[in-house]
Amino acid sequence: MNPNINIAFIDLQAQQARIRGKIEAGFQKLLDHGAYIMGPEITALEARLGDWTGVEHNISCSSGTDALLLALLGLEIRPGQGVIVPSFTFAASAEVMPMMGAIPVFAEIDQTSFNLDPAKLPDALAAARSKGIEVVGIIGVGLFGQPANYDAIGHFAREEGLWLIDDAAQSFGASWQGKPVGQLADITCTSFFPAKPLGAYGDGGAIFTNDARCAEIIRSCRVHGMGRDKYENIRIGMTARLDSMQAVVLDAKLDIFADELVHRQTVANRYAELLDGVVTPPSLAAGATSSWAQYVIRLPRGSDRAAVSKLLGDAGVPTAIYYPIPMHSQPPYAHYPVSSCALPITKDLCNHVLALPMHPYLTAAQQVHIAESLKGALAKG
Ligand SMILES: Cc1ncc(COP(=O)(O)O)c(C=O)c1O
Repeated sequence: MNPNINIAFIDLQAQQARIRGKIEAGFQKLLDHGAYIMGPEITALEARLGDWTGVEHNISCSSGTDALLLALLGLEIRPGQGVIVPSFTFAASAEVMPMMGAIPVFAEIDQTSFNLDPAKLPDALAAARSKGIEVVGIIGVGLFGQPANYDAIGHFAREEGLWLIDDAAQSFGASWQGKPVGQLADITCTSFFPAKPLGAYGDGGAIFTNDARCAEIIRSCRVHGMGRDKYENIRIGMTARLDSMQAVVLDAKLDIFADELVHRQTVANRYAELLDGVVTPPSLAAGATSSWAQYVIRLPRGSDRAAVSKLLGDAGVPTAIYYPIPMHSQPPYAHYPVSSCALPITKDLCNHVLALPMHPYLTAAQQVHIAESLKGALAKG
């Protein structure tokens, strides 16, 4: 390996160099005023998120998982009700249903976008109904940064009387047909986990909606179901606030977020050129932009993924597998309904995907090294 090529899977240090002064000044101010919970930084951040999303209610919270839970509380989901969700996703997208006593119903994805395939939704609905489950909503996921086809999914949801949540933990900053993430579903949830495109220095998340009633319930549930104040408890809620300190970090990161998204796209374009004909690189649907949370390729059939990943590691190229096991095959989820097609695309992708380093600060030289190492590994692995 070229000793000058030190490749991070996600480089938060290079980013920090751009914003450290502002973060330190913000922390200083916070230490002086001492409002660590729901301080002025939270109000300012929520206003700024509103400028970005263009939706009315922008509610910060403690994590992407809590954002999903709060959304389900806002929609007043009841135990035993079903929610359609992809199986090819991070656990949290499905986990929040059992946490509320509700039922995840696993649906198939599209093999190019990795997102829910709108044409397969009727199959998932039928699978749940055949078990007597009342399906009330859909959680779509903008996997790896690209929003799902929310025009078609939204159309299906409206026809069937279902609500729609966009789990945009990975896709905040992206857009679909000119509309920013935040506007693509009844409720959008995101995560500010440090590795996300817009990440804090700890856990965090947010919920976006134009639905005033849901927003009121969500704000209340964020603080133990508070009423007029936090000692009047009018519903069952939780502790799910974002810390003021994380809002300081996010405010600084928002200054460079648009610029970073441009750089992420440049990195993705370069990968697509370098990997053309080598593997199946990810591609965007017409009218979609991605926040490129991850750059996930599909290896050719017959290649030994573990060997390829090991050879890449030896060449100084870190990789990851998102996701090796479909959610419906994980033991705690194995008894929940699955579309009758049995999700062959989901299973196939779990066996063949590999994530390459992706962040806005990858250089052309690093990407050439990654591509050359991958070609060498595929020739051997
Ligand atoms: C698709 C998806 N949904 C939800 C979450 C949960 O976010 P958090 O880790 O902030 O709880 C994640 C985080 O990794 C995610 O990738």
